Amino acid sequence: MVRNITSDIKYIGVDDTDLDLFESQYIIPNGISYNSFIIDDEKIAIMDTVDGRKCDEWLANLAEALGERQPDFLVVQHMEPDHAGCIEAVMERYPDLQIVATARAVQMLPQFFEEFDFEGRTIAVKESESLSLGRHTLQFFTAPMVHWPEVMVTYDATDKVLFSADGFGKFGALSHEEEWACEARRYYFNICGKYGAPVQALLKKAATLDIEIIAPLHGPILTENLGYYIGLYDTWSRYDVETEGVFIACASIHGGTLAAAELLAEILREKGAPKVSVADLSRDDMAEAIEDAFRMSRLVVAAASYDGGVFPPMHDFLHHLQIKGYQRRKVGIIENGSWAPCAGRVMHEMLSQMKQVEIVEPTVTLWSRMKRADRAALETLADALLAE
Ligand code: FEO
Repeated sequence: MVRNITSDIKYIGVDDTDLDLFESQYIIPNGISYNSFIIDDEKIAIMDTVDGRKCDEWLANLAEALGERQPDFLVVQHMEPDHAGCIEAVMERYPDLQIVATARAVQMLPQFFEEFDFEGRTIAVKESESLSLGRHTLQFFTAPMVHWPEVMVTYDATDKVLFSADGFGKFGALSHEEEWACEARRYYFNICGKYGAPVQALLKKAATLDIEIIAPLHGPILTENLGYYIGLYDTWSRYDVETEGVFIACASIHGGTLAAAELLAEILREKGAPKVSVADLSRDDMAEAIEDAFRMSRLVVAAASYDGGVFPPMHDFLHHLQIKGYQRRKVGIIENGSWAPCAGRVMHEMLSQMKQVEIVEPTVTLWSRMKRADRAALETLADALLAE
């Protein structure tokens, strides 16, 4: 649906509500939006395309927004296919259209569109370079690794809009209204989590601009209370604690380890932990578990032993934490085994490879099922977790 963001900027993006998995791995119960805009001035700029699944709908939105006019520039901020999927289609339809992108993005074009001849139809821009449309002047800022190396963001000083590429994006179609932080956090840590330093660099550039509207490539256009969103991005990209509390991630085969995880949660609550939550890694959304691990101040990993190592859902969880740059947290370990408990050793090894992760003693070892005597060990672990 076409709608006005400002008098000159129109939204022409699309919702995708029947995609099974975003990036072939993230569930999106409320869909996702691929945002795109036109800036209607003496020259017309299109800000990004959308996923190839939605080209027809997007081209119809574009045509409606353009009326009788022809677009001049296609600003490509990000080459990932959820935004660049319709580049060839739009370049074919409008033969005078010029792509404006970083040199790195221009270089990537033939990787995705082998058959299309981009010769003479691209303008590579550098850091802080500007492009005048008439009343609006666009200024481009490179944002490498937020979330790919070719990314740039665009600032329009006339309407004080920052087109922020994937930054400040969230899961959830625009047709579905919901609180921003939950799905923005799940999106951030799973997609950009590894890139805290590049996000910090982008926030520093953004701090020099007078911004009234943030227009990301996914999720709602942010027009109020921008300090709230920028503050959360600052916390997340510094890997700082957002919420004091304990997140217990559990990988249990027959329920014995899960029972211990739930008892630990109860003990922690009794001892006054501000927030405690438990995730069953075999059944709950892995991306949400990753998000909660980054969000909270303490983590407990509780898992069964399996084939001489750790039960695979826990291995998968810790591998995700490792590649997403999990760091600077206190972590407790609970292992379970029926003849040779070894999950604790593997979890310890994986956690030791992460930056400034402090393993809290004692590691609690269960033999098949929790016994009355195990409560004392869980109490000790709870005290150690809650100690400053
Ligand atoms: Fe929404 Fe990195 O693409």
